[in-house]
Amino acid sequence: MKPQHWRSADGTRLTLRPMLKSDAPLVKESLGRLSSETRRNRFFSAVREFSDETVRRLTDFDLASEFAVVVVRPDRGREIPIAGGRFVHCADGRRCEFSVLIGDPWQGQGLGHRILRTLIREAARRGLHQMDGYVLADNRAMLKLARAHGFMVDTSNEDAGVRIVSRDLPRPTPAIWPRLFRKLLKFGRNP
Ligand SMILES: CC(C)(COP(=O)(O)OP(=O)(O)OC[C@H]1O[C@@H](n2cnc3c(N)ncnc32)[C@H](O)[C@@H]1OP(=O)(O)O)[C@@H](O)C(=O)NCCC(=O)NCCS
Repeated sequence: MKPQHWRSADGTRLTLRPMLKSDAPLVKESLGRLSSETRRNRFFSAVREFSDETVRRLTDFDLASEFAVVVVRPDRGREIPIAGGRFVHCADGRRCEFSVLIGDPWQGQGLGHRILRTLIREAARRGLHQMDGYVLADNRAMLKLARAHGFMVDTSNEDAGVRIVSRDLPRPTPAIWPRLFRKLLKFGRNP
């Protein structure tokens, strides 16, 4: 995927790009700054400390069966992670399971929409058929975000406090169409 660049409402330059192995140390620092509510909403428990092994699993993974993006802001030559999202392919090869995490000061500014849109696009491009996610039943922001992106919300048979959100993914556009479209546009301009 191509990196996305834009400015937040307060003018900060932000970039959304694939997660890199080298992001691990700063990802660990950013995870350490999360509130206990955000930790609970993302990891389903108020994780006290993020071990190097946990951070390694989030930043160094098999690119064929996982995808992860990070949103970074620049700070004295460093790229500070402020949000991220990922999906992992399920063993059936048809479905994937996603999660999104926005740092506390950045919540409610549309980053969730941007990240989820990117995950859906990439999962469809990979030919996956369905995207699922596990969300705490009282996580209103995530349930609202999921519904806005076409997910259906269902209860979990295993845990009354958890909702399962699922949506079908669009079929990938054959690579020929964008090229053909560009050619037609060019032809329209210079017949
Ligand atoms: C849930 C989360 C991903 C949403 O992302 P976000 O960037 O904060 O949300 P957005 O700004 O993109 O807004 C998403 C929608 O939720 C709504 N929303 C935001 N905070 C809300 C809240 N506390 N209660 C209800 N709705 C809320 C927004 O109004 C928006 O709806 P709209 O587009 O109709 O206005 C983010 O808050 C987060 O990472 N929370 C902690 C971790 C987590 O819950 N992860 C999900 C596990 S899969």
